[in-house]
Amino acid sequence: MESDKTKAAGTSTAEAAKTAVKKSTARSPITTGQNVMTDNSSVNRDYSQEATKEGALYKFFLDGLKDMYFAEKHILEVLPKMKEAATTGDLQDAFEDHHLVTQKQVSRLEKVFKSIGESPEAKKCDAIIGIVKAGENIIKETEEGTMTRDTALIIAAQKVEHYEIASYRGLVALAETLQQDRAADLLHQTLEEEEETDLDLTDIAESSINFHAAEEDDENDNDTD
Ligand SMILES: [Fe+2]
Repeated sequence: MESDKTKAAGTSTAEAAKTAVKKSTARSPITTGQNVMTDNSSVNRDYSQEATKEGALYKFFLDGLKDMYFAEKHILEVLPKMKEAATTGDLQDAFEDHHLVTQKQVSRLEKVFKSIGESPEAKKCDAIIGIVKAGENIIKETEEGTMTRDTALIIAAQKVEHYEIASYRGLVALAETLQQDRAADLLHQTLEEEEETDLDLTDIAESSINFHAAEEDDENDNDTD
């Protein structure tokens, strides 16, 4: 039988990583928040009270959803600016595609709220405001039409993605712990999309942009010699 290693050979680094992500993020009983909490004998406490709607864990989960509802809407506002600032068509297309995906993620979060009997509500998230602001500064600090700008935009966008990945991973585990299966499924779909976006951005960077950005640097060095 063909091994996974053989299958990955010949594909790009990002493609191989995508396969690995799919495997690592598949929802298995071992990785669910519920098992993390109940299988660990050193953390032997009763979560039944916290799992109720009055419980601290539920409130923390709900707060996390509000946080991400704010974050996704904030990201929707900035993606068109990032697309306009990008130099290459590949990166412009990636930002445009992610805008569409983000719109769906906002609707999906509304379904998550509904699935737990809550109304969608956004709560100001200082973390995403800061990360997005850093991305906007990159546009001011880099020259229009350069590959250096694209490299910097990709890194900025990946910082956003990594914040989202960490947040959604936590929310999936919390939803499972709280036995909110529908919410867990929906949140897991979004988690997979964020991970794929992160890998797509790596793919774009590795395929040519980083190389051309380094060439630009060399040209600039030669000009100043
Ligand atoms: Fe998102």
